[in-house]
Amino acid sequence: MTTNNSRVIRAELLSFNADPGEADNPAAQSVSHLEDGALWLENGRIRAIDDYTTLASQLPDDIEVIDHRGKLVMPGFIDSHVHYVQLEIMASYGRQLLDWLNEYTFPEECGFAQRERADAISNAFLDEMLRVGTTTAQVFCSSHPNSVDAFFHACRKRNLRMLAGKVLMDRNAPEALRDDTFGGIQDTERLISEWHGTARLGYSLTPRFAPTSTRAQLDATGGLLRNDPSLWLQTHLSENPGELDWVAELFPQSRDYLEVYEQSGLVGPRSTFAHGIHLDQGMRRRLAEHGANIAFCPSSNMFLGSGLFDRHAAGEVGLNVTYASDVGAGTDLSGLATLKAAYQVGQLRGQPLTAWQGLYSLTLGNAKALSLDDKIGRLAPGMEADFVVLDPAGSPLLSRRYSRCRTLGERLFTFMMLGDDRSVLETWAGGELLHRRT
Ligand code: GUN
Ligand code: ZN
Repeated sequence: MTTNNSRVIRAELLSFNADPGEADNPAAQSVSHLEDGALWLENGRIRAIDDYTTLASQLPDDIEVIDHRGKLVMPGFIDSHVHYVQLEIMASYGRQLLDWLNEYTFPEECGFAQRERADAISNAFLDEMLRVGTTTAQVFCSSHPNSVDAFFHACRKRNLRMLAGKVLMDRNAPEALRDDTFGGIQDTERLISEWHGTARLGYSLTPRFAPTSTRAQLDATGGLLRNDPSLWLQTHLSENPGELDWVAELFPQSRDYLEVYEQSGLVGPRSTFAHGIHLDQGMRRRLAEHGANIAFCPSSNMFLGSGLFDRHAAGEVGLNVTYASDVGAGTDLSGLATLKAAYQVGQLRGQPLTAWQGLYSLTLGNAKALSLDDKIGRLAPGMEADFVVLDPAGSPLLSRRYSRCRTLGERLFTFMMLGDDRSVLETWAGGELLHRRT
């Protein structure tokens, strides 16, 4: 029997209150950890969180208690940059970015003119996200307004908190994907008025990247952002050497790639720039001054041979770094797999990533950088009840390794290096169970 959609999850609970830093062991106040905790859900939010024995005395007699002892509950994972329309071209033999775009990506995105295809892939994508514990993402659709309607519609049906937008591109793309410069802006305005701020959805302006937009389209996008600062913005920046040369050729008036975006007013506190590998310290500082974030996409960067992101250089100037799969160039949707790839990239740069820093980034860190931390990213009273139930017995090898761990830090690192969809027993969003491993 439940009242007001009220129930309790009893499990080990882990959540971050602040950035734990890069040290091997985090400052105690940055982490909330309850060995035998209770998470009280009510009307889609967290009503209370405490030790089970403390909270038990306050609970109504008839409340449902779901016993997940032996499992680890964390806030739902957040993916700051992913293309839902590229789900089915993952693992397409890539060479480098521009070849991969022309050979696989653009042809694939042409199919999203059809609403039925956009509906089908939206649902398949959300199933896969939930299977790996991701409850929020910032998502590129295709350039077809249809593809955005389909995606938001599918998210609203599941009551997910999601950001997404229609790709803007009015040059250097196949005709079937190309916007009429101002037609693309009008389509965007219609989508904003229909979806931005409805249910748990937000609109992210989505100029694909500098080479596929004219200055007029970038300027008009900047105009939309200026008129409504509650919008988000997502694009790509300095991913691949071939791309950098092309941008320099197309925008001779800009002193560097970032200035192309600055000149159109696209760099702000709600702007996410995917990749940002090939930047100098001055560009990183400019991004930091605007409060923008770089989406670090480690599996994608290795897949396309784009380069090794310099996390410490970003940290030195206070530039926010978010973590992202960048599927379809990314090789895995799983946030845990993204952290494993980030650890490996870090090792090659002499910048290993602790599980503390990784899991903070995947939850509260990403939420903060996307200005969503008043709603998601923590297990705390009043927050939306989006969380993942991790299962150390999810696979024989994980279970074997986990049983040897002595500390929480070791157990978290084991999840980060050996975890996958089998490690996710359940994914909850808005206080409802949306995925259970079969
Ligand atoms: N740059 C412009 N478009 C894309 C894309 O779809 N994926 C990646 N990885 N980089 C891009
Ligand atoms: Zn991308």
